[in-house]
Amino acid sequence: MALRVARRGAVDPFIVMEVLRAANERMAAGEAVIHMEIGQPSTPAPLGVRRAAQAALEADRLGYTDALGIAPLREAIAAHYARRHGVAVDPARVAVTIGSSGGFVLAFLTAFDAGDRVVLTDPSYPCYRNMLASLGIEVVHVPTGPETRFQPTPALLDRVPGRIDGLVVASPSNPTGSMLDAAEIAALAGYCEARGIRLVSDEIYHGLTYGRREATALAASRSAIVVNSFSKYFSMTGWRVGWLVLPEDLVSPVERMGQNLFINAPTLSQLAAVAAFDCTDELEGNVRRYAENRALLLEALPRAGFGRFAEADGAFYFYCDIAHLTNDSRDFCRRMLAETGVAATPGLDFDPARGATTMRFSYAGATADMAEAARRLERWIRR
Ligand SMILES: Cc1ncc(COP(=O)(O)O)c(C=O)c1O
Repeated sequence: MALRVARRGAVDPFIVMEVLRAANERMAAGEAVIHMEIGQPSTPAPLGVRRAAQAALEADRLGYTDALGIAPLREAIAAHYARRHGVAVDPARVAVTIGSSGGFVLAFLTAFDAGDRVVLTDPSYPCYRNMLASLGIEVVHVPTGPETRFQPTPALLDRVPGRIDGLVVASPSNPTGSMLDAAEIAALAGYCEARGIRLVSDEIYHGLTYGRREATALAASRSAIVVNSFSKYFSMTGWRVGWLVLPEDLVSPVERMGQNLFINAPTLSQLAAVAAFDCTDELEGNVRRYAENRALLLEALPRAGFGRFAEADGAFYFYCDIAHLTNDSRDFCRRMLAETGVAATPGLDFDPARGATTMRFSYAGATADMAEAARRLERWIRR
C-alpha cells in the first residue's frame, strides 16, 4: 500500500537551486560556466573568521550552546547596531540562528498561526512564500512594480482585501536590489503597529549598498522582527549562521521553539562569527568589487539586450524585464545556459504570476567573469 506523503511535501522547489545543479553538471563536463544564478559571494569567509575557526577547532569542545546562541556573539551583534545604526539593542533580544533561513522558520512559527494571512510583495525571495505555505500560513501576494521601486507602501497595503496579520519586507531586496529609506520603513512600521500587523524585516543584504545607506526597522519599531545573516556581507554562506533581533514578546517563544527544533546554530560557526565584525577592511574590499561589477553591468547589460531592470541600489542583483525576448523565462534561462554558459535565474522563482517575462542576474562573482558574461550575452542576443 502506498503511504501518504504530507501535503507539505509538495512544497515548490527553489528554482535557482535547480539552475545551479544544471550549471554544475555543465562545469563537471568541462564547460566554462559563469555563475550569475546563485546569490552568493565568490569569496571565502574573511581571514579573521577562518583563523578564529581554526583556533576554536583546537581549543573548544564544540558541544551544544544555549538555544539563543553564545553570549559573545549575541553581544557582538548587539554592539553592531549601536555602532552602525546608533540603535541600542539588548543582547538578550538577539537569537543566533541557522542562517537567516533558520531565523525565518523560528520567526514565522512563533509570530503566526496556521490560517494567519501574511503579505509578501511580488517579486520577492521565494523561500518566504514556500516556508509560509508549508506552515499553513496564507500568503497574500501584493504585486509591485517600478512605481514603488518594487517595495510595499501603506497605500498598497490599504488596498489588500481582508485581514493582514503579517508583512515581510526586504531592503535591499532580493531579487530587485531596491531599498526602503528610513522614512519609508518608519511609515510601514507605523502602519503595521497601528493595525496589529507583525512586521518582519529581512536585512540580510545590509552592508551591500552602492551610494545609499541602509536603514534598519529596529530604529522605527519595537514590535518588528529583524532578520539578518552572516551569509552575504560577511561572505559566510556555508557556515549557516544568522540572527534575529526579537521584540520582547517573542524572545521566550523563539528560545523554546529553537530548543525543540534545532537546539542551536553550529557551534564552530558561532565561535568564528564573533570575529566577523573585526574584518571590515577585507569585507569592504568585497563591496568595492561588487560596486565595480555593478557599474560594468549597468553599461553592458543594456548593450546585450537586457536594458530594462529594476533600480538596484543594493544586494548584488539585477532583475530584468525580458518580455521583449521571451514569454518563458525558464526555457530562456535553460537555453542561455546551454548556448552561452551563462547561468541566471528565471523570474518565476520570485514572481509566480509575472515571472515568465523576467529574470535575475547575480553579480557577486569575479569582475572578469562579469565582463566575459556580458560579451557572451551580447553575441548571443545579436544572433
Ligand atoms: C532575501 C534573502 N533572505 C534570506 C536568504 C537566506 O540566506 P541564509 O539562510 O544563508 O542567511 C537569502 C538567500 O539567498 C535571501 O536572498
